[in-house]
Amino acid sequence: MAPVRLSSADVAAVEHALQARGCELGTPLASEGGMSHLWLIRHRALDEQRVLKVMSPEMLAHREGLLYFEREQRTASQLGQRHPNIVRPLDFGIIANRLGYAVLPYFERGSLARLGGPPRRAGGQRALCRILGGVADALDFLATGSTPRVFVHRDVKPANVLVAELPDASQPTGILADFGLTRAVDDRATTGSGPFLSPAYAAPELWRGEEVLPATDVYAFAITVLECFAGGNPFGDLRGQAAWRAAHLGAEPAIRPPRDRRLQPLAELAHRSLRERPGQRPTAAAWRDALRTAAEAFDREERR
Ligand SMILES: Nc1ncnc2c1ncn2[C@@H]1O[C@H](COP(=O)(O)OP(=O)(O)O)[C@@H](O)[C@H]1O
Ligand SMILES: [Mg+2]
Repeated sequence: MAPVRLSSADVAAVEHALQARGCELGTPLASEGGMSHLWLIRHRALDEQRVLKVMSPEMLAHREGLLYFEREQRTASQLGQRHPNIVRPLDFGIIANRLGYAVLPYFERGSLARLGGPPRRAGGQRALCRILGGVADALDFLATGSTPRVFVHRDVKPANVLVAELPDASQPTGILADFGLTRAVDDRATTGSGPFLSPAYAAPELWRGEEVLPATDVYAFAITVLECFAGGNPFGDLRGQAAWRAAHLGAEPAIRPPRDRRLQPLAELAHRSLRERPGQRPTAAAWRDALRTAAEAFDREERR
């Protein structure tokens, strides 16, 4: 699903709105097949780089689309204010009732989809454990996180995890991004499998149009972890919605036992996370703890 091209009039309108907010448009950022257009922008007075995300206009063609967009931005802002591993919009706006944009902090290293193959060395594996551990912590926050509501991201995948070097941390961490499909569990619009789900990561309950739960994110997270460490989706390299649907609803995922014993508990957790029944999957907190334990095992051996 590629986003519809923006007309030059649309780009000019966005540029105008940005200028009024003290920013100038820079170069386009390559998106990994999402539903939006991204640019690098610069806040002039602060001399700070940021990212501009403009939604594909057909997404906002109806009043409902506009409401969804506003809700996405508010939800992301509220969650991002309360958790360091959730991307927080700095600003957002709607131009001429049809063009929605959000301004985000810029993460130079981009997303985990740009990893370029599994890490071979212990240092890379340890960094990946830390990055994914940050995401697991964010998912635990969505699921249990001291808010009265339970949120499901619904689009966890490598392209929606940004790699961040935070100023107060010695190692990079992962930031959960793209809250376009996020819903509160008590929200009636939570069920139904829309055409926008990412088929390679979609849990059985999404295909069946059943209620989604935090366990739906755990399923997608497990595939994300396996892709990052093993280089491929455990259901194979499939084409088309029908093939993915059949795989998620019946095929046995192929999870190769990792050679490094420090990573073996993750493979075991991934196995349980891909169970058909959401109630039988482990929690995001279990993932966070297992990833932390693995990262610490790498740390200890490095110090020897
Ligand atoms: N703040 C950011 N900093 C750096 N890269 C980003 C940022 N936000 C998004 N990206 C890149 O753009 C891609 C698409 O952004 P995303 O928010 O996921 O939108 P979409 O709805 O198009 O999937 C991401 O996969 C990532 O590679
Ligand atoms: Mg995305």
